[in-house]
Amino acid sequence: MCGIIGYVGNKKCLEVLINGLKSLEYRGYDSSGIAYNQNNKIKIIKSTGKVQELENKIDKNILSDIGIGHTRWATHGIPSVINAHPHHIGKTTIVHNGIIENYIELKKELEKKYHFQSETDTEVAAAIIDYYAQNNNKLEALKKAMKKITGSYAIGIIFDDEPETIYAIRKDSPMIIANKDNESFIASDIAAILEYTNEYYLLDEGEIAKLSKNGLTIYNNDLQEIKKKINIYQGNINDAMKNGYEHFMLKEIHDEINVYENIVKSYCPNYNIDDLIKNFPNFSQYEKIKIIGCGSAYHAGMVGKYLLENYANMETSVEMASEYRYEKIFPNKKELIILISQSGETADTLEALRIAKKNNLDTLGIVNVNSSSIARESDNVIYCLAGCEIAVATTKAYLAQVLILSLIAIVSSYNKKIINKDQANSYLLDIKKLINNTKEILDNEKYYQNLAHKIYQNNITFFIGRGIDYSLCMEASLKMKEISYIHSEAYPAGELKHGTISLIEENTPVFGIITEEEIALKTISNLKETKARGSKIYIITTEKIYQKYLNDNFYEDVIIIKEINPLFQSLITITPLQLLAYYVAKLRGEDIDKPRNLAKSVTVE
Ligand code: G6P
Repeated sequence: MCGIIGYVGNKKCLEVLINGLKSLEYRGYDSSGIAYNQNNKIKIIKSTGKVQELENKIDKNILSDIGIGHTRWATHGIPSVINAHPHHIGKTTIVHNGIIENYIELKKELEKKYHFQSETDTEVAAAIIDYYAQNNNKLEALKKAMKKITGSYAIGIIFDDEPETIYAIRKDSPMIIANKDNESFIASDIAAILEYTNEYYLLDEGEIAKLSKNGLTIYNNDLQEIKKKINIYQGNINDAMKNGYEHFMLKEIHDEINVYENIVKSYCPNYNIDDLIKNFPNFSQYEKIKIIGCGSAYHAGMVGKYLLENYANMETSVEMASEYRYEKIFPNKKELIILISQSGETADTLEALRIAKKNNLDTLGIVNVNSSSIARESDNVIYCLAGCEIAVATTKAYLAQVLILSLIAIVSSYNKKIINKDQANSYLLDIKKLINNTKEILDNEKYYQNLAHKIYQNNITFFIGRGIDYSLCMEASLKMKEISYIHSEAYPAGELKHGTISLIEENTPVFGIITEEEIALKTISNLKETKARGSKIYIITTEKIYQKYLNDNFYEDVIIIKEINPLFQSLITITPLQLLAYYVAKLRGEDIDKPRNLAKSVTVE
């Protein structure tokens, strides 16, 4: 959470900082600020609210060629101008993403020397850097500060007495460094600087970057200059633009087809199991799988459990990353821990990975962002290839995770000789149907727009289903609540009657997801139980179930999806519900890409 940008070069830096912060807003948007050098004086401008509000306060034509900026997701202290970054103390100005864990203790030590104004941990980090900078050169000061502070941080620093240089350090929070021609950048994410370059360096723990008009220098822990491998962002600059769509979320839903095609092209271009095996790790030595993630990644894991158990006969459990750390770990060489994360930086998932590794468990990351912490620290990684996702509510990246899990189920099933080569290849060919059916759903967008009109004025919705449909309910319900703020509950259809049904009132919308024929009648009964208590029912189901079981008109509306290979059925079931959530939020006039209180990448525990 929190986005950082820093720039030094020939351009007017305020413009670069504001544009960068806008691309980073998905990381937090309760306040923002910039610090820049003007005639050898560091000026700071801060504002609460979105970056737009900061922009309104700024004259972007001010001549300054070096500055740092920050967009915040509050952790320590309310969103306010005082708590917003940059923080200036002594002769030091910093922007920070992460959490300084020992800040209370450090604050006590420093209180006699510094007058703290904010409630933040960041101001304490600035003070400790400033303190060491008084009697050391800047590199030594930063080295000492890194030793002293604990927690996670990506920090950009400017010193009053060296106003033409930006320094950067990091531990556990993401930060990239770039240098092109006479310009240098620091940023939380490549999206912030993609307009200028797609080449970047990853700063490792203990390293220090120094950026000035003379170029970029990176130092190791011993303060010796080092050369680092350059990384090239493989995505496209269009990833960071709306391309005519009103919101990133809608654009990203429409991008789902490209994501599926990318995955096929990269892992099994001829829909052939032999290619897939070459490109995926071998899972046959494992008897058990534990999938760990947060939010939608956890929901993808729930779908994965169903697929791995039913197709590959692999005993699978799913854990929320934030809970895994409190569990008793049973080290087992025959168990694989799969960490799912779009950003690859989610603090809880990263910590779960580290715990698993400490216990000598094998780990596999299913990650979208290249070279992110989880991708780098996992024993193996499979990339989701969903491209850059900007809307806070994930859509295409969640579906990419589910498709990757379906492919793991196919590979494992084949390796375990549950299916033969022909079967495996025919499963893979079914991805074509998935792609075609997703196209049809997206062409039929108007339908979901109309459906949204029927429910957008409610304050509560339910999503109920059984088995794999319950996992889909979890994701559909999360989409609905996080962007429309309509309270939404996902419930196993059979469990509703044990208490929660008391919330059903006249006209409460209840969505039933029914994609499995064997359990269709049971979910239908549960839906009717809510109808008897006044609910309005909406159903998402396959053509076949619709024809066979849904002749009596007890529901308000129905979304009918094609029946495809159950391995991919979840994917085409979710797309319409993402569109529905989008249109409901739009009718309610909410800020769809940046819902309140949220951030896309949660790098605090
Ligand atoms: C945040 C986002 C969710 C996301 C979750 C996990 O809460 O708002 O959309 O599912 O983090 O993020 P990750 O990057 O680990 O997939």
